Amino acid sequence: ESLKDAFEKDFYIGVALNGGIIDQSDSTSLNVVKKEFNSITAENIMKSAIIHPKLDSFNFEMADKFVALGKTNDMHIHGHTLIWHSQLSPWFQDIEDSLEFKSATENHIKDLALHFKGIVNSWDVVNEALNEDGTLRNSIFLKKMGADYLSLAFKWTSEIDPDAKLYYNDYNMTNPEKRQGAIRMVKKIQEQGIKVDGIGMQGHWHLNSPSLEEIEQSILEYSKLGVQVAITELDISVLPNPWDLEGAEISQNFENSEKMNPYTKGLPDSVQIQLANRYKDIFNIFLKHKDKISRVTFWGLGDGQSWLNGFPIRGRTNYPLLFDRNLKPKAAYYSIIGLK
Ligand code: XIL
Repeated sequence: ESLKDAFEKDFYIGVALNGGIIDQSDSTSLNVVKKEFNSITAENIMKSAIIHPKLDSFNFEMADKFVALGKTNDMHIHGHTLIWHSQLSPWFQDIEDSLEFKSATENHIKDLALHFKGIVNSWDVVNEALNEDGTLRNSIFLKKMGADYLSLAFKWTSEIDPDAKLYYNDYNMTNPEKRQGAIRMVKKIQEQGIKVDGIGMQGHWHLNSPSLEEIEQSILEYSKLGVQVAITELDISVLPNPWDLEGAEISQNFENSEKMNPYTKGLPDSVQIQLANRYKDIFNIFLKHKDKISRVTFWGLGDGQSWLNGFPIRGRTNYPLLFDRNLKPKAAYYSIIGLK
């Protein structure tokens, strides 16, 4: 029994892979990935700064290992991500002229889509284009190309690989204002006759937020667009959320404070159980709407590998995933499997 067996008839169960798993140096982790998951996303190595470091050169080595791993193990391969303002290759910033920027962006998308055509099953075409109030983020793409960059990105990708499923992916997609913005954005693309296949809701969630109602309502509203919903980048932080604090407090001051880093000596049983219940509750919603959900992807394998140990405050000890620091399944793992 494994996660992928348990949810086989419902949706893909995915995991983000770090470099050590992709280059197979971390064989312990790799074995757990193969046993438990049937979909993979590269945590970093397909981002523009890494895969397309210079305007005229690509660095496909790790990405090719990543997709080979997926193929060999018969997994759904998700590409992350074609257009994103972060971990952005420096050459984007260096192009002054708008037309040149547009054609370089087109080439970036098309070269990647072509290289992985028929191999990458789905793409995050655009990542994190929205502000919290639902307006468009003033990224370099918006500045240089205007709002058209969104529909163009989807059009260019589908021209090269019409069979790949194309997603818009973002965080806080349960926030009602941002949700309305995402819906407006996708509708505009669809109205131009350009396809969007799915919405990715990054699941960087917390023990108490977002509410189960917000999660469920968001899944329902997005699927009304006629798209699939993927829960991407799922991890549930057990630590106090610094974004909840006043701006001035979100600072280095908290780096060593016990208030922001309370579980350095291990996770208390009570919180372990809280986390398991939280995972159970959200998976209950996913199962209720399994016809609308294509994939649930965890952002990392074991707690020791999670980016949340370093974000948004460095040096914290977090416990957001299903496997502990020794890659043993946690109570959260059994609470999810127990639903089946
Ligand atoms: C994160 C990775 O997990 C880290 O290793 C890296 O240092 C920064 O990026 N939203 C996304 C992901 O779409 O690509 C980010 O991944 C987490 C937030």
